[in-house]
Amino acid sequence: MAISEHRILEILNRYTSPGSPATLVESGAIKNISIEGGSVQVDLSVPAPEKAAAEKLKPEIESALLGEEGIEEVELKMQYHLPTFSAAPKAPAAPEPPPRNAWAGNISGVKHVIAVASGKGGVGKSTISTNLAMALSRAGATVGLLDGDIYGPSQQMMTGAIGNPQGTAEGRIIPMKAPGGVSVMSLGFIIDADQPVIWRGPLLMKALEQLISDVEWGELDFLIVDLPPGTGDITLSLAQNVPLAGAVIVTTPQDVALIDARKALHMFEKLEVPVLGLIENMSGYTCPKCGHVEYLFGEGGGKRTAETLDVAFLGAIPLDPAVVVGGDSGRPIVEADSDSATAKAFIEAAKKLGEVIKER
Ligand SMILES: Nc1ncnc2c1ncn2[C@@H]1O[C@H](COP(=O)(O)OP(=O)(O)OP(=O)(O)O)[C@@H](O)[C@H]1O
Ligand SMILES: [Mg+2]
Repeated sequence: MAISEHRILEILNRYTSPGSPATLVESGAIKNISIEGGSVQVDLSVPAPEKAAAEKLKPEIESALLGEEGIEEVELKMQYHLPTFSAAPKAPAAPEPPPRNAWAGNISGVKHVIAVASGKGGVGKSTISTNLAMALSRAGATVGLLDGDIYGPSQQMMTGAIGNPQGTAEGRIIPMKAPGGVSVMSLGFIIDADQPVIWRGPLLMKALEQLISDVEWGELDFLIVDLPPGTGDITLSLAQNVPLAGAVIVTTPQDVALIDARKALHMFEKLEVPVLGLIENMSGYTCPKCGHVEYLFGEGGGKRTAETLDVAFLGAIPLDPAVVVGGDSGRPIVEADSDSATAKAFIEAAKKLGEVIKER
């Protein structure tokens, strides 16, 4: 793909102009950009006393530009001018904060949007999202489940909803129906889930926006959003654009996972999103032969963390091979074996979650 001047300006705008509080773009340091095929020339002009700083910056900018797709060669020319004392560079005006809850109008029929998050990957967010959604639905609520993991969607497999989503005459998307009645939408229904998603940030955000705004979610008591691991762009974008009832943090009993759970919790606090509770997953394993419970990853860590951080503890979900089978076969344990101890743990956690929301 050919490189655009706009993209080059975006990159240059990341750097502060030597001797100025403004960026290279804002301070007017960029005198010329020329592009010929893959070769790019940029002329910068900085005050002469800043020469040493400019020389240091030069290789940094060059390698950033060279790292960009479509750029093969970079020539960065520095010119030095005498400082102009009369027109001291102005500090850039603080950027306008983007509007909050920009997508809310499209899901006005949804009462509570709940994000399921974790600081660490693979702790069971998707499994918990599916089973919580199904447990809430069994309790009589109208529930939607949105797969917010745009890079690695999994709900197209875990929920057992099969087929391709249909469109309405107005070009909106009708969510899929999972057994048990939960409405599900995942990018995995649309793209080939075996192919890695290699989109850049803005496209990912657009995909998230479409999964929320262009889908006919209709009237829902709960929309559960299964987030990707960590505290990245998708989580920030969701918190920014959708009024969240709150977040549920998933962790395992391991120390590292608990540290990451704390991080996730603090991030939601900063985003002013209430944390509704913490769920410990992959808790005790019950030996099917003798009934002995073994705590492979430690015991009670989730509960202690919840107490320390003063958030509700929604429950501990056992480590149970039936959960893996249920997820892989599209028959989540809450649906497939609702009387099992593990399904009951999910149902109990969903009940507690409902209570926390009611209290608020
Ligand atoms: N309670 C459990 N008992 C046994 N296996 C479980 C349990 N919870 C999740 N798993 C298994 O652990 C694996 C990871 O779970 P899952 O995909 O839900 O995690 P995740 O946090 O969504 O991962 P990612 O961060 O990649 O999105 C899956 O194979 C799942 O079946
Ligand atoms: Mg997941």
